[in-house]
Amino acid sequence: MSSSFPTKRLRRLRKSEKMRNLVQEVLFSANDLICPVFVQENLKERNVVKSMPDIIRLPLEDLTGEIEKIKELKIPAIMLFGIPAKKDDAGTGSFVDDGIVQKAISQVRQNFGDNIVIMADVCLCQYTSSGHCGILRENKIDNDASLKTLAEIALSQARSGVDIVSPSAMMDGQVKAIRQILDDNGFTDVGIMSHSAKHRSSFYNPFRDAADCAPQFGDRKTYQVPFTNPREAMREIESDITEGVDIVMVKPALAYLDLIAETKRIHNIPISAYSVSGEYALVKAASQLGWINEIDIMTEILYSIKRAGADMIVTYFAKKMASNLSK
Ligand code: PBG
Repeated sequence: MSSSFPTKRLRRLRKSEKMRNLVQEVLFSANDLICPVFVQENLKERNVVKSMPDIIRLPLEDLTGEIEKIKELKIPAIMLFGIPAKKDDAGTGSFVDDGIVQKAISQVRQNFGDNIVIMADVCLCQYTSSGHCGILRENKIDNDASLKTLAEIALSQARSGVDIVSPSAMMDGQVKAIRQILDDNGFTDVGIMSHSAKHRSSFYNPFRDAADCAPQFGDRKTYQVPFTNPREAMREIESDITEGVDIVMVKPALAYLDLIAETKRIHNIPISAYSVSGEYALVKAASQLGWINEIDIMTEILYSIKRAGADMIVTYFAKKMASNLSK
């Protein structure tokens, strides 16, 4: 045979399904999934989020049934978001002991014990009249005043029985402030998964329908990371690690795979990726139009996030992915 034939034939390892299984490099399991759950105060009936098909806002009465389903699908963790009945300037609903998330946490803890990891979002935007993630002073976010409230939220969630608090407000020093209040109150075992490199992103728009948290004026550019600045994103991650975070997060996921990969390369810490509402909505819309196959695209996207280096993924596809993996 002529020497111009290839000696390397990568197709040898692709020739049958068993052979492909044997050499598969990246594996995805339901254990990699965190399922977001929205609970709304004083809600009569569950309602579907318009821009996020299949995603539901639940009344507290429906929560246990929902967690049962998530658990049956072998998803190990939930991420709770609350929508309060009332908003005010101080975001009071976020940290009171009978707040919607606090009630949800204790209900899940009571009914499921340690059989599901309870994570909860720590932020203010659903709870403040302004829709901003911090406390305002003269129409500007007061970073340090906001830290006090975020710490109170985390503490109230810890009292309710949360496993991991997940600050998403992008206030400087939020991990340190939360770690300190938790430790001072004996909650040394409550973990922190910070939305460390959370970008100012248009991919969050459908979530604002889901959680009713659109800013009433301005935008989040003064506190979220610009998507033009990867080194700045890495500094956010570094500072969270210095402040004692347990799990860092890159958010959104799909358009930010470079940052997931870079974090994996230089840091020795669990990495979560948040595949956000807009990522979900794009796939749902295109599949409703019949232009793509939802399951195939979902699977490929979630594998890409895993391949980039994420150890776990918060995704609105959690239930669908888990159910598909079990087939
Ligand atoms: C609020 C918060 C947002 C998301 C999670 N927590 C919205 C925002 O920052 O505007 C977005 C999640 C998603 O889009 O799925 N702090």
